[in-house]
Amino acid sequence: MLCAAVSCGKNAKIDYLALVNKENKLPDGWEDRLETVTVKNSIGDDVEVEKKAYGAYLKLKEELAAEGVTVDLDSARRSVAAQQRIWDDFTEKYGEVYTKRTVATPGYSEHHTGLALDLYLIIDGKDVIENEDMIVYTDIWAKIHAKLADHGFILRYLEGKEAITGYGYEPWHIRYVDSRDIAKEITEKGITLEEYLGKLPVGNVAPPEAALTRRSYEEIII
Ligand code: DAL
Ligand code: ZN
Repeated sequence: MLCAAVSCGKNAKIDYLALVNKENKLPDGWEDRLETVTVKNSIGDDVEVEKKAYGAYLKLKEELAAEGVTVDLDSARRSVAAQQRIWDDFTEKYGEVYTKRTVATPGYSEHHTGLALDLYLIIDGKDVIENEDMIVYTDIWAKIHAKLADHGFILRYLEGKEAITGYGYEPWHIRYVDSRDIAKEITEKGITLEEYLGKLPVGNVAPPEAALTRRSYEEIII
């Protein structure tokens, strides 16, 4: 494909509102335009994040720390191969039905964009990383969620919106949209990125059984 100088390569901008979900795969050429940084988290794992999203995350982290909430990055950008490993691991541990509600098919994960960040909590100096351990800290997540929009992030997988997103509630999965105003509008309206963009799923992306709520999530996992 022929590219104009401004629309290809690292000088071209990524679309910070790109929709990647069960019906929309990572846009072609994304990786050619993506600029990332790789950082080590508290447990010594490397985490790769889109550059601007990382800057915004650092400010969010700092503000949260001032309120006594410590977060770190469990996972951000994932290759298709890395997503496949997660998919295989979850399928083996929890079965296919649960995996489809919680893990994106390789190629269709928002994590491929580098704009989706999975947070974990550090409580009393201890890393709290597993989903089933983290999800019970509702007060801490509420403090985190209240600050997201100020830094250009939204909570991506809302409780009660499973029929639109196709995934259960994930308090840890935040998405950078590079605009405080857009993030605020989405957050204040309590809508999903799909609704904001007017791109509701055309097929049936809902979990195959009843919608996955925080309670049923705990019941399944624990
Ligand atoms: N947990 C989200 C849906 C992902 O795997 O991309
Ligand atoms: Zn995630």
